[in-house]
Amino acid sequence: MNFLSCLLAFLATAAAAAVSALSLSKKQHPLGTASFSGINFGYYYTFSAEDGDAVTYTNLDDGEYSMQWTDNSGYFIGGKGWNPGSAQQIFFDFFNITGYLAPPNGNNSLSIYGWTTDPLVEYRIIENLANDVNPALGLTLQGTVTSDGSVYQIYETRRVNATSITGIATFSQYWSIRQSTRSTGFVTIANHFNAWAAAGMPLGELGYQIVATEGHSGNGSAKVYVGSKPAGPCAAEYAQCGGEGFVGPTCCVSDTTCVVENEFYSQCLS
Ligand SMILES: *[C@@H]1O[C@H](CO)[C@@H](O)[C@H](O)[C@H]1NC(C)=O
Ligand SMILES: *[C@@H]1O[C@H](CO)[C@@H](O)[C@H](O)[C@H]1NC(C)=O
Ligand SMILES: *[C@@H]1O[C@H](CO)[C@@H](O)[C@H](O)[C@H]1NC(C)=O
Ligand SMILES: *[C@@H]1O[C@H](CO)[C@@H](O)[C@H](O)[C@H]1NC(C)=O
Repeated sequence: MNFLSCLLAFLATAAAAAVSALSLSKKQHPLGTASFSGINFGYYYTFSAEDGDAVTYTNLDDGEYSMQWTDNSGYFIGGKGWNPGSAQQIFFDFFNITGYLAPPNGNNSLSIYGWTTDPLVEYRIIENLANDVNPALGLTLQGTVTSDGSVYQIYETRRVNATSITGIATFSQYWSIRQSTRSTGFVTIANHFNAWAAAGMPLGELGYQIVATEGHSGNGSAKVYVGSKPAGPCAAEYAQCGGEGFVGPTCCVSDTTCVVENEFYSQCLS
């Protein structure tokens, strides 16, 4: 089964999952469901899994999150980002990934993932993926774009009566697939949006946009940082870690936490 048919199978079960989400007994997440979203440290996050018992999504401080999955996890996707997204430049770091990109230990992709409405589009800028889940297998190359140190191949397909952010609908899926894969770096999203437009692949009004960990089966874990720039070293004890107009590190060295003094000043204290 390829990635698309797998996704389709997942989406077909999504409606059933929504019903069972009302029952709090089975799922381990506090929200009692394998599908949830919200705001954390100002970032939008969203998560869905076919089997909520086999996949755990955890929000960490600032732009960080972690995910863990075990065998028979089925299809899953989760991540942190923005809602709405934009044609911004972002920085991501998929660090401490275990059991990840090597089949047979699962098949996964790391991507910037988002949606637009009017037209309804689901898009991915894939930064890394396991070989056997190339989602564009068999599709026609629509063009290429060189950005952030690599060529990306552009593909498009159509999904009919599938689950979308607006319910069951027919919509386009766009991909930019990085040829020189990586696990960290800047992504200039505008370059992809422009290249898609030039290839006759228009976007609509931007919905959410996350740095996503997505996959199917296997055993693994990932810790992911999402932001507009690298986190850099954390602030030392007693150093400033936040406040209006502050551009330094907003994390604190271990054993200290960032304490808000007032709207202009936060400080790392133990
Ligand atoms: C991932 O790999 C497993 C095991 O090889 C396979 O059963 C599954 O269909 C694959 N999933 C996708 C999405 O291709
Ligand atoms: C990396 O993952 C391993 C195994 O899950 C864990 O023991 C370790 O604490 C993690 N390290 C960091 C920095 O998160
Ligand atoms: C999609 O849904 C429409 C409206 O319900 C229906 O007429 C059409 O046959 C469906 N197409 C497929 C391929 O299922
Ligand atoms: C995942 O871990 C379980 C238990 O350790 C093991 O039985 C299974 O073979 C592993 N699956 C993969 C795909 O590595």
